Amino acid sequence: MIAVLPAAGVGSRMQADCPKQYLTIGRHSILEHAIHALLRHPRIQRVIVAIGPDDDQFAQLPIAQDPRVSVAIGGRQRADSVMAGLRLAGDVEWVLVHDAARPCLHADDLERLLAITEHSKVGGILAAPVRDTMKRAEPGQNAISHTVERQDLWHALTPQLFPLALLKQCLQRALDEGASVTDEASALEHCGYHPLLVNGRADNIKVTRPEDLALAAFYLTQLDN
Ligand code: CTP
Ligand code: MG
Repeated sequence: MIAVLPAAGVGSRMQADCPKQYLTIGRHSILEHAIHALLRHPRIQRVIVAIGPDDDQFAQLPIAQDPRVSVAIGGRQRADSVMAGLRLAGDVEWVLVHDAARPCLHADDLERLLAITEHSKVGGILAAPVRDTMKRAEPGQNAISHTVERQDLWHALTPQLFPLALLKQCLQRALDEGASVTDEASALEHCGYHPLLVNGRADNIKVTRPEDLALAAFYLTQLDN
């Protein structure tokens, strides 16, 4: 099993001096926390990090020296970065894709996701059921059109786990056909597949806005205990 971490984003919504994956929480950068969470699992033998073409920070991290970690050069969209990582994946059956900006992955969640390889041919994703009442706005306006039934709505998280060949094929087709692929599952959906939803913890947040940093720091202290 290998894991690809797209880490080539600039983190514009974070408004920090550097890409958000290099912000430090405790003793490590967010990216290192994300990598450590994956490498702690005995089934994950290798991690490929897709970094930006001008990235001079990754090579300075101690984790860059770990023989299990290699680097790919990411692209313009997240899907391009993931594809760049997948090209280095070699001959493995399954691949995990995990956001570099998600440092709080819990070992139990990873275990539950990996367990689907025993019965699924398509793969699946960690996801959390929506809690709030959901509103659909009138197109382009700040006015409610109607309430969206919350029953079957989920937040898509990462890691997302797929057979390598299937993911490559679906991502390539989705990119070629100009589909919007904001996560890997949407590439499979585009091709008619129905990946599994694996119930995951809501504290597996993606650090996106400045206020997320304190929350991620708190969740990480909880993980360590
Ligand atoms: N990512 C990537 N290549 C891109 C864009 C995003 O590898 N061309 C990665 C980011 O580094 C991040 C993950 O995809 O780990 C999720 O993306 P997001 O949270 O949107 O991060 P950014 O694109 O960096 O942030 P923003 O959208 O605020 O600019
Ligand atoms: Mg982005």
